Order: sequence, then structure tokens, then C-alpha cells
Amino acid sequence: MSSIFVTRLNDAWSDACIAKILAMSGLQVAEHDLVQKLLADFVHDRKLGLLWSTSVRPDHATSQLLRVWSDDFGARAEISAFKSIGEARRRLADQSGSRRIWRSIPRGLVRRGALLQDQLYHRKWQQPQGWAGQESRNQLGKFDRGAFVWLDPQHLLWSAEFRELAPEGNWSFIEDRVNPPSRAYLKLWEWSWRSDFRPKSGDRVLDLGASPGGWTWVLLEAGCRVVTLDRTSELHPAVRERIESAHQGDAFDLSSWPEGNWDWVTCDVIAAPERSLRLIEELRERNQRFVITVKFKGVPEDRDIERLLHQLDDRRVRAQRLWHNKHEITVWMDRT
Ligand SMILES: C[S@@+](CC[C@H](N)C(=O)[O-])C[C@H]1O[C@@H](n2cnc3c(N)ncnc32)[C@H](O)[C@@H]1O
Repeated sequence: MSSIFVTRLNDAWSDACIAKILAMSGLQVAEHDLVQKLLADFVHDRKLGLLWSTSVRPDHATSQLLRVWSDDFGARAEISAFKSIGEARRRLADQSGSRRIWRSIPRGLVRRGALLQDQLYHRKWQQPQGWAGQESRNQLGKFDRGAFVWLDPQHLLWSAEFRELAPEGNWSFIEDRVNPPSRAYLKLWEWSWRSDFRPKSGDRVLDLGASPGGWTWVLLEAGCRVVTLDRTSELHPAVRERIESAHQGDAFDLSSWPEGNWDWVTCDVIAAPERSLRLIEELRERNQRFVITVKFKGVPEDRDIERLLHQLDDRRVRAQRLWHNKHEITVWMDRT
């Protein structure tokens, strides 16, 4: 588990609050020894540990809910009692300055949250869109963000320093329904926002399992020079015209790769996880930056990610199940 956010409570309803937050997050408290233990510690210390997921999908394993909401909420979350929505609005507006966007987290008292958000509203919370280039990051970074959720009609959990660009890990982009040759492009968009380091304009990228060309399209739009390799030759004409060259071959047979030095290798081939793992090991040995999706038969669990990272035993390699990953996880190495 990553960091745990802890805030002090001044009165006796801490355990009720915790139970409420856990209930809202969908956690079955009784099932989890870990949660029980954390609760016991926090209640004992009269502190509140906010357990929440930063990347929850309805089909996520329950264990994945054991993430920490504080990752979103930042270090300055508070729980305050307000007699009315107006009183809450005044307090939050005091914090606002003119450049803060407030967002109601859609949990708990959703309608009440929406009412408060409407009263604070001056600009819509924008989801990120497209590749996480410098320009789009700057655009989003222009505004401070605050977020809140009603724990009950009087108590508001709120933070004027909300860190996440996609609250609760929901990276639902404003989609481009016209240009990308496949919807797989969303995985790469999301990964670009979540990785600290990613291909940049002018980089040479080898895109494995590229057809029909969703990832290729993303890379081209980011200004990369792309060479593709796929078992088939069914690359969409819109990307075929813009790439350096297209090759047919087996992604797992490195001797069939086109010659070249690559700033990045990307791979979205459907294969047994062991094969993808072997490829990852080879790329790692070559000190080759990569991003690869590793496919599973069903929904991967946290322990699948842990097992994979344990097997690789390399701090440079990172793995995450993205919002747009279904039966797969995304693995990457961005430092060599
Ligand atoms: C999920 S699709 C890739 C989607 C693509 N990344 C996109 O964004 O449109 C998987 C691709 O991997 C290719 N493929 C499967 N096994 C392969 C292999 N061993 N070597 C190369 N390509 C392979 C398939 O032909 C298919 O085009």
C-alpha cells in the first residue's frame, strides 16, 4: 500500500466517519484484516485513515480498493461541519481564489454534492484529452483544484489541494471518434498521462502488434517517427501513409525486427503472459525503453502485478492496470 493519509479528528464520531467512507468506497470492512487493523489503529489514535481507491473500476478486485484516497486528496484534506450548503459554499469560496475549480466526488450524497458544486461553479472540471504533451499538461495545470464529498448532510470531507487530474482514477477522455484506427489509442493516451517519461517529438519508435494502428496514430500525433511490425499487414491507410515503414513478422522473434535504434518499443500484442514477460526481459537486458500490455485470461488482480514485478525484480520496471485496461496490465520501463 502506498502512503496513508491521516487527519486528526476533534470529536467522537471518527469511527462512524471511517465506516461511512469505507461504505462509500464499497469496501466490505469485515472481510479485510488489513482494514480492520488500520481502523483499530486510527480509531485508537483518534485519527482518520482515508482508504479509497485511486483507480477503481466496477470490475476491479476488491483488493484493489485498498488504495488510499489521499493520493487524490493531498495532504490538506479536512472534515468540517456545516449547517447548510450555503455555509459550506462560503468556507470553500474563501479558500478558492479565482483560479480554483471545485469538484464534487460522485459518492455519498451525490445530489447535495452537485448543489454545492453548482454554487461554486465557475469553470468546468476538464478531463485531460489527448497525448500528455507539455502543452496539454500546462493547460490543465493552470487551475488549482479542490474536491469534496458529503459524508452526511452536515459533514463535508474536502481539500483545496486535489492532486489527481482524473478523480478516482477515472481517465475517461473526451474521445476522438473520427481519426484513430482503433479504440486501443485510449490506453496509450492514458499511459502517457500516468508515466513520468514518455516518447517525445522526434523519437524513433518501433510499434509491435501495431495493426490496425491505434497506438501508431497516437505516436504519430505526438510527433514520433514510427516503424511498425505486425503478423498481419492490415494497417489503416491513415497511418500507413505517415509511418517510416511497415513490416510483417513475429514480435517475439527479435531477429525478425527491422534494423534500427529505438528510443522506445511499444507492444500491444495479444499473447500468453509468459511470452510478453520474456520479451520484457530481453528489452530490459538491452536497456531498451518500452511500454507493453501484458494480457491475462480474466481480470488481472493486484497479486498478478506483484508477481510480475517480483519476477522481474527491477526497480526501473513499472506496472499498472490502467482505467482502459480490461484483461491486461500495462508494463513499462522509462529509465535505462
Ligand atoms: C490488440 S491488437 C493491437 C492493436 C493496436 N495496438 C492498435 O492500437 O490498433 C493485437 C495485434 O497483434 C498482432 N499480433 C498477434 N500476435 C503477434 C505476433 N506474435 N507478432 C506480431 N504481431 C502479432 C495481431 O495481428 C494484432 O494486430
